[in-house]
Amino acid sequence: MEPEEIRRRVAEIEWYHTIDLGHGIVTPGVDPSPSRLSRLGFPADLSGKTVLDIGAWDGFFSFELERRDAARVLAVDSFSWNGPGWGSKAGFELAREVLGSKVEDREIEVLDLSPDEVGVFDVVVFAGVLYHLREPLLALEHVASVTGELLVVETHVDLLGTHQPAMAFYPGVELNRDPTNWWAPNPDALAAMLRDVGFRHVVTVHPPYRWPLRVARAAKWKVRRGDPFLRGIQHGRITVHATR
Ligand SMILES: C[S@@+](CC[C@H](N)C(=O)[O-])C[C@H]1O[C@@H](n2cnc3c(N)ncnc32)[C@H](O)[C@@H]1O
Repeated sequence: MEPEEIRRRVAEIEWYHTIDLGHGIVTPGVDPSPSRLSRLGFPADLSGKTVLDIGAWDGFFSFELERRDAARVLAVDSFSWNGPGWGSKAGFELAREVLGSKVEDREIEVLDLSPDEVGVFDVVVFAGVLYHLREPLLALEHVASVTGELLVVETHVDLLGTHQPAMAFYPGVELNRDPTNWWAPNPDALAAMLRDVGFRHVVTVHPPYRWPLRVARAAKWKVRRGDPFLRGIQHGRITVHATR
């Protein structure tokens, strides 16, 4: 496809991910995707591995995992591809075409994932999805059922500083003004849930930012959006790697 044609088609799409399509063309996503990569701790070399990217949306992580030589990558999503939100599958499809990618796709809900439906994958990526689900423990059970070796979980966490496993519930639009956000565990609860669904080893590869940075971020959102400052201090993001 000619660069002019790529630019024209990119401009027709509302992007979530920021994907470098070559020719100096980068998709104008709301998500600073490349800057998140180092926090996920993906293995540098995935030769011979099968990979499942759950909640792939525009596919930034799927294409990156393919670039790391995965033998097969399956991108799955539902809400942002065919649901009531502002997302669509058009970005994924255009990026796959332009990148000449062989990433496969399947529209399926997290709670419908099972070995019978999609098979079992060596590496499973579950980034930015857990807090969107109404049944997080049940979701992790389904995710665990399709994970062969390594599960990478990246998620919003809350109640940082509390010293027992706990989950925050977000009625309405309490978290980020987004009605699709429901629950966030604290790190202890996330680890406990992952153990409950069969992972014996849960390693934090990127912990939530420490409190001085959290204070600064909470102050920023208090000023910009009027978000409650003291709740904001308890918010963060975490990446864990879970293995059996
Ligand atoms: C914040 S995006 C994360 C996309 C990508 N995995 C990443 O980390 O950049 C949330 C993803 O969760 C998916 N999702 C699955 N079930 C969902 C639900 N019930 N409500 C909202 N989003 C849901 C969305 O379709 C979307 O792809």
